[in-house]
Amino acid sequence: MRVVTKIGEMQNIVDDLRRDKRIVSLVPTMGYLHDGHLSLMKIARQNSDIVIVSIFVNPTQFAPHEDFGSYPRDIAGDTKLANSAGVDFLFTPEKNEIYPADYATFVDVDEITEKLEGKSRPTHFRGVATIVTKLFNIAKPHVAIFGQKDAQQALVIKKIVFDLNFGIKIIIAPTIREKDGLAMSSRNSYLTKEQRQESPVLYESLTEASKMISGGITDCLTIKEKMIKLISMKQSAKIDYISIADSTDLEEVDVLQKGGTYLISLAVKFGNTRLIDNIIQTI
Ligand code: PAF
Repeated sequence: MRVVTKIGEMQNIVDDLRRDKRIVSLVPTMGYLHDGHLSLMKIARQNSDIVIVSIFVNPTQFAPHEDFGSYPRDIAGDTKLANSAGVDFLFTPEKNEIYPADYATFVDVDEITEKLEGKSRPTHFRGVATIVTKLFNIAKPHVAIFGQKDAQQALVIKKIVFDLNFGIKIIIAPTIREKDGLAMSSRNSYLTKEQRQESPVLYESLTEASKMISGGITDCLTIKEKMIKLISMKQSAKIDYISIADSTDLEEVDVLQKGGTYLISLAVKFGNTRLIDNIIQTI
């Protein structure tokens, strides 16, 4: 595995690879790699000749009061993991390489970014859209892989690829969970013992919603009330939002319709740690 830190070097490498007709994939990450990331790399491997993983804790997707400073980082451990996962190139630029002092260009995606996560984190998707666009121009992949855990991010990225004509195939990989159902996330490392014990309630409440829907309940308020009840039983949990929305435009729905596909998603704070999770359900 070759570690690359400069944009120009990464672009030259990919230009040569593409000239040699190699299929290139990119797995963008913010590091502190876990099994969820490794599953993305595996899918990248299956869909390309050359796998590039990027590690960059992107400051523009964090609001000033959020956890950019404390976001977990372990570049030495990540390098070992990526190497043993068979990654070909690890792109780990410094902050100034990506955002020099006079940096001024941002990518804004309308509408879909204004809901759910966008309501709670109004500047988040501008940062995500900007860094992902830059990474696409740097790594010039044929294929890029993202996780379903960040369901709205996945939709935003597909929109960018379509609207800006990137011609990149986007693969959304299933969420990888701990044995007790907690979706894997680098932020899980913030949880105290008590919070960690209570955190599986997120997936439990989503599973309960899914069971209710399979059992014929179509009234979203009834489903949400049950989810709220389950989560509120946990002392350290504070709900930010629970949503049942159309899976393509994220419009909130009141009554589920036969044939519809819905994104059931939530954001819950355990102390200062904000976790998100979701499932997709077709009825
Ligand atoms: O999903 C993430 O880890 C980040 O939002 C991403 C896509 C790497 C952009 O910084």
